[in-house]
Amino acid sequence: MRHLNVRILMEKATILVLFLFSLHIQKIYTAEIDLISDSKFLTEADTLVSPGGNFELGFFRPGSPENKYVGIWYKKISVQTVVWVANRDFPVNGSSSATLRIISPGNLVLMKGNDTNDVIWSSNTTSSGNVTVQLDDTGNLVVREGIGEKILWQSFDYPTDTLLPGMKLGRSFLTGKERHLSSWKSNQDPAPGEFTWSAETSGYPQIILKQGTTVIFRGGPWNDVWFSGDSASTRNIVTGDMVINETEVYYTYSLLNSSVISRLVLNSSGQLERWVWVTDVNKWQIFLQLERDFCDGYNICYGYGTCSSLTSKRCSCLDEIRFVPRNQKGWEMADWSGGCVRRTPLDCKNGTDGFIKYSNVKLPDTESSWYNVSMSLNECKEKCFKNCTCMAYSNIDIRRGGNGCLLWFSELLDMKEVPDSNGGQDIFVRMASSELVHEKKERANLKIILPVVFLGVLLIGLSSTWFHYACRKRHHQQLRKDSGEFFDVGRSQRDAMELPLFSFSTLARATARFSPDNKIGEGGFGSVYKGVLEEGLEIAVKRLSTTSSQGLDEFKNEVICISKLQHRNLVRLLGCSILGDEKLLIYEYMPNRSLDLCLFDKKRSSQLDWTTRFNIIKGIARGLLYLHQDSRLRIIHRDLKASNVLLDKDMNPKISDFGMARSFGGNDGYMSPEYALDGVFSFKSDVFSFGVLVLEIVSGKRNRGFMHSEHDNNLLGHAWRMHNEGRSMELIDTSLSQSSNSSEVIRSIIVGLLCVQQSPEDRPNMSSVVLMLGNEGILQKPKQPGFFIERILHGADVSSCSYPTSSTNDLTVTEVVAR
Ligand SMILES: *[C@@H]1O[C@H](CO)[C@@H](O)[C@H](O)[C@H]1NC(C)=O
Ligand SMILES: *[C@@H]1O[C@H](CO)[C@@H](O)[C@H](O)[C@H]1NC(C)=O
Ligand SMILES: *[C@@H]1O[C@H](CO)[C@@H](O)[C@H](O)[C@H]1NC(C)=O
Ligand SMILES: *[C@@H]1O[C@H](CO)[C@@H](O)[C@H](O)[C@H]1NC(C)=O
Ligand SMILES: *[C@@H]1O[C@H](CO)[C@@H](O)[C@H](O)[C@H]1NC(C)=O
Ligand SMILES: *[C@@H]1O[C@H](CO)[C@@H](O)[C@H](O)[C@H]1NC(C)=O
Ligand SMILES: *[C@@H]1O[C@H](CO)[C@@H](O)[C@H](O)[C@H]1NC(C)=O
Ligand SMILES: *[C@@H]1O[C@H](CO)[C@@H](O)[C@H](O)[C@H]1NC(C)=O
Ligand SMILES: *[C@@H]1O[C@H](CO)[C@@H](O)[C@H](O)[C@H]1NC(C)=O
Ligand SMILES: *[C@@H]1O[C@H](CO)[C@@H](O)[C@H](O)[C@H]1NC(C)=O
Repeated sequence: MRHLNVRILMEKATILVLFLFSLHIQKIYTAEIDLISDSKFLTEADTLVSPGGNFELGFFRPGSPENKYVGIWYKKISVQTVVWVANRDFPVNGSSSATLRIISPGNLVLMKGNDTNDVIWSSNTTSSGNVTVQLDDTGNLVVREGIGEKILWQSFDYPTDTLLPGMKLGRSFLTGKERHLSSWKSNQDPAPGEFTWSAETSGYPQIILKQGTTVIFRGGPWNDVWFSGDSASTRNIVTGDMVINETEVYYTYSLLNSSVISRLVLNSSGQLERWVWVTDVNKWQIFLQLERDFCDGYNICYGYGTCSSLTSKRCSCLDEIRFVPRNQKGWEMADWSGGCVRRTPLDCKNGTDGFIKYSNVKLPDTESSWYNVSMSLNECKEKCFKNCTCMAYSNIDIRRGGNGCLLWFSELLDMKEVPDSNGGQDIFVRMASSELVHEKKERANLKIILPVVFLGVLLIGLSSTWFHYACRKRHHQQLRKDSGEFFDVGRSQRDAMELPLFSFSTLARATARFSPDNKIGEGGFGSVYKGVLEEGLEIAVKRLSTTSSQGLDEFKNEVICISKLQHRNLVRLLGCSILGDEKLLIYEYMPNRSLDLCLFDKKRSSQLDWTTRFNIIKGIARGLLYLHQDSRLRIIHRDLKASNVLLDKDMNPKISDFGMARSFGGNDGYMSPEYALDGVFSFKSDVFSFGVLVLEIVSGKRNRGFMHSEHDNNLLGHAWRMHNEGRSMELIDTSLSQSSNSSEVIRSIIVGLLCVQQSPEDRPNMSSVVLMLGNEGILQKPKQPGFFIERILHGADVSSCSYPTSSTNDLTVTEVVAR
């Protein structure tokens, strides 16, 4: 209120000044029309401008020149953007002129011509005193009694399709006034269209988008984040607030920077959009759309069903142990009507019911709910327990530190799995006593079934529902209260393979919205950005190219698979994020970037002395061995190359991008002959790539583009030739000091050559490689390498070779092999 007073005082001052000037009437009025004296009126040619020049009121013709409307638009913006319309139902048509003026007794009217009997629109106000009409700098048209005294009427009480900062969406219980947005019929017709956005106040208030009388979207109960799709980015420009008390319920927002111009509009197709004016380009830019993925549709999964946009299944019962689809056949065919029912009916009279806690849900429709903002969770449980029609309870508001009580008295409708903390909450659902004990049994069985299930999931590709849980934010677990009597349903098995899910907005913030300045690499699968999380942890975010045709399920498989692999010489996957088409992987950040940047750079390569290089070679070998043999899953990397080896701060190598190549179609690594010619990929193809990498590390030269004055061999051919002529030491990078250990150098070269032999059968496996690098024993004599001559590698055969088909995949190219 205080700031309102200040504003009014300022306006009072302006009005007084302007009052003196207003005797001289101009076409453009400023700030006020004092019409009691009949000396002022607004004709079609005139406009009324707010004191600071932000808004303008006047006549406009949105469609045909036939129809005139009185509206308010931004004054400072070149594109006429109407934010409010007075006579939206009743245009002034034809050639008839119109006037906006105040007529006795203090009524603001729009009338045809100058005829007080032909009123098109009116504010319906009456007053015994002098009445002023004023356009505020907030875009509010206000009819006041006296000068700046009592507000008789204001346009903010009658929103059209636009919610401006400071406007309220909701209801006042004192005056009964209800304010909602309603869309225009079309871009040319401001008459109310079929969409409305309003605050519903039966039960715990919630914001609802309707088409006609049908609810099409429900914003979950207010909990600090407005839209369920959220975006922290919205909060960068506005702060929203929801007031819920005995006298009123409303949502409002304000701009963090008052010089930003932004509006929230319900467009004629029912989309709710936040727009921001960008001065530099003189354009409105969309800032946020109310995300409407499949699961945002209202009540998709019916009673006790939850919708998840992360799985192809979409709907599932709140819990598959305690609930069953009412219509199993239909459910399987994606007909979810009927929803789910409890497997064991409640037996409330017996007084033995209990509650099961479910986490990360968008709380159900609160239309038939009851609430008390000051009750504790325990009191809440008590209250629900005592009333047999109470089906569930929860805290109201996660901001209140666990206060508030919300009870549901009907089937739980319109629930959605919310994969991160941006709005997911805990709900406690009433359950028959016999259903409360499952948990212990489940836990006991877990250890045994988990590996089997896990592999099954990967191989059959059924992981969809699992993924969501796998990819959950760790925070939740930490925050989860340890309340012995509540069971956290069947999640333990899922937790066993949990991978944190980061919200897209968190990552956007961490990377300065994927700013080009933060970009540290561009790979076959997308771009990599450096980021810093709020707690100061440095991360690398791989934003996978959205052109990838890979399905969500495949992606999930991949991610679960990758996250299981942990080795000192593999880059650690910290988490993932999915938002619509956006798929992101979060890795630990490697300060020394990739090996190729170091190795092939004249300046930086001197950092790599022989000891470091030998360590890198051994580290890569160990990492690859782990992938091939030691991990529970056996992985062929398929894309091993210098740019896929990252270096930590101590120059320890870590292999990246493992498990990605097949799904993301990337493969410009070091192709083995059998792959390039026949498209056959095996563990030995990785060994070939490793050999090339070893020779590159030793020589400091790229295999591709290698030139030599004496012959046209590529690096492999050159190394082979030097080796046979007993000149191996000539291969070594000139930047290496003479102090390098020549027996290690020669051993590495021989191992490299053994790995790149033409025939896959001749190449050693990685465990032999690790052994050979690590001890002094005698080595085999390498045979001629594959791809000896540069020409072949770049020949037509290679570039036209096709990717293995799925059938060969299954037989010879199996990427993930169960042991
Ligand atoms: C104006 O509107 C009225 C009522 O809709 C209609 O009868 C009349 O013909 C219109 N006049 C013109 C000139 O369009
Ligand atoms: C409208 O009518 C009033 C008297 O009712 C008169 O004073 C005023 O000049 C008229 N204005 C126009 C634009 O005709
Ligand atoms: C004024 O009253 C009329 C008739 O009751 C009504 O149709 C109109 O909507 C009211 N105008 C406003 C601005 O409320
Ligand atoms: C209305 O304003 C006039 C001067 O503008 C003043 O003389 C008159 O007393 C005012 N009437 C009331 C009821 O305030
Ligand atoms: C309800 O909230 C509004 C806005 O914060 C406040 O002005 C009003 O006094 C509150 N009413 C009650 C009963 O707390
Ligand atoms: C507010 O926005 C204006 C224009 O966009 C900008 O120049 C100014 O720096 C911003 N102020 C703050 C405090 O961010
Ligand atoms: C409403 O918004 C949606 C989403 O931005 C857009 O696709 C649609 O074209 C808009 N409708 C109109 C009539 O502008
Ligand atoms: C009701 O409670 C009694 C004991 O209090 C128990 O023996 C009986 O099995 C319960 N009935 C059901 C249906 O759970
Ligand atoms: C809400 O709960 C508090 C604390 O239990 C209680 O004092 C208050 O009377 C309750 N209000 C209503 C309306 O039930
Ligand atoms: C249970 O709650 C419902 C809905 O609020 C209410 O109508 C009913 O009276 C309550 N029953 C008891 C026993 O308190």
